[in-house]
Amino acid sequence: MLGSLALPLLAYASAAFASPVSRGLLHARQHQPGPWCDGLGAGVFDIAPQITLAALNTTLPNANNTGAPLVMGQAGAVDGASFAILSTFASFPFNEFPTLSLLNGTLIPNLPGGILANASDSSVAAGTAPSWIITGLDLPTPAQIYCGVADTDPAGGGTGFPLLALNGDTDHFSLCSAGDFHAAQTNIIWRASSVNDGSYNFTSCYPVHIQIIELE
Ligand SMILES: *[C@@H]1O[C@H](CO)[C@@H](O)[C@H](O)[C@H]1NC(C)=O
Ligand SMILES: *[C@@H]1O[C@H](CO)[C@@H](O)[C@H](O)[C@H]1NC(C)=O
Ligand SMILES: *[C@@H]1O[C@H](CO)[C@@H](O)[C@H](O)[C@H]1NC(C)=O
Ligand SMILES: *[C@@H]1O[C@H](CO)[C@@H](O)[C@H](O)[C@H]1NC(C)=O
Ligand SMILES: *[C@@H]1O[C@H](CO)[C@@H](O)[C@H](O)[C@H]1NC(C)=O
Repeated sequence: MLGSLALPLLAYASAAFASPVSRGLLHARQHQPGPWCDGLGAGVFDIAPQITLAALNTTLPNANNTGAPLVMGQAGAVDGASFAILSTFASFPFNEFPTLSLLNGTLIPNLPGGILANASDSSVAAGTAPSWIITGLDLPTPAQIYCGVADTDPAGGGTGFPLLALNGDTDHFSLCSAGDFHAAQTNIIWRASSVNDGSYNFTSCYPVHIQIIELE
């Protein structure tokens, strides 16, 4: 929620820099980011109510500065619960959860209309996919592990969009193919490794940053 102070600041900042201004940073002025933002520099925020995510190649060419849209891709189900990971929309062309909310270090998907889903983000180990559990039964407490890092480098080189950090790290995400089969998704893996549980093909991985597109 933008306070009465925030709107004039936003207008001023937009005019001054003509680049995507981090509304999250405006929130950060009213809420001290938690320890999940430690070590990530000055322009950090851990509240951004309506965002989408996009993957931007860090070594390969990009078609544009926004990146490839990411959605909550399916990752299996058990009785009463389903699991989701971040997939490119190109590989999983469904979008049940059109936006996400960064809330005090948690990252929660929203149903259409911006309604928080019955979903929790899980803690993430190196070599695995950031993941979510979706259930109306016994929802676990979400892990406080995500942070937004504004593009504040005056030397440029960034796109202007903030980056998503996980476990204090913006720089070790990859997009990896789940394998060589029909409808294989291309998924975000954190610290991808050749030693993995078989859920992705390490040879197919390429490094990306996850950009935060703030809608509110
Ligand atoms: C990143 O590179 C991959 C592999 O070349 C390509 O498929 C993808 O479209 C690129 N992403 C963007 C955002 O251009
Ligand atoms: C940017 O490029 C990616 C990868 O090719 C594509 O999926 C996406 O739709 C493009 N976004 C815009 C805003 O053109
Ligand atoms: C954020 O999380 C911390 C640690 O769990 C908690 O102490 C604090 O009350 C939370 N703040 C908000 C605004 O939810
Ligand atoms: C969350 O789950 C509860 C309990 O099953 C249900 O009453 C509620 O409608 C669900 N909320 C959403 C947004 O799906
Ligand atoms: C793994 O990815 C590489 C590079 O994209 C590809 O050449 C290879 O066929 C893939 N292997 C499997 C088992 O999917």
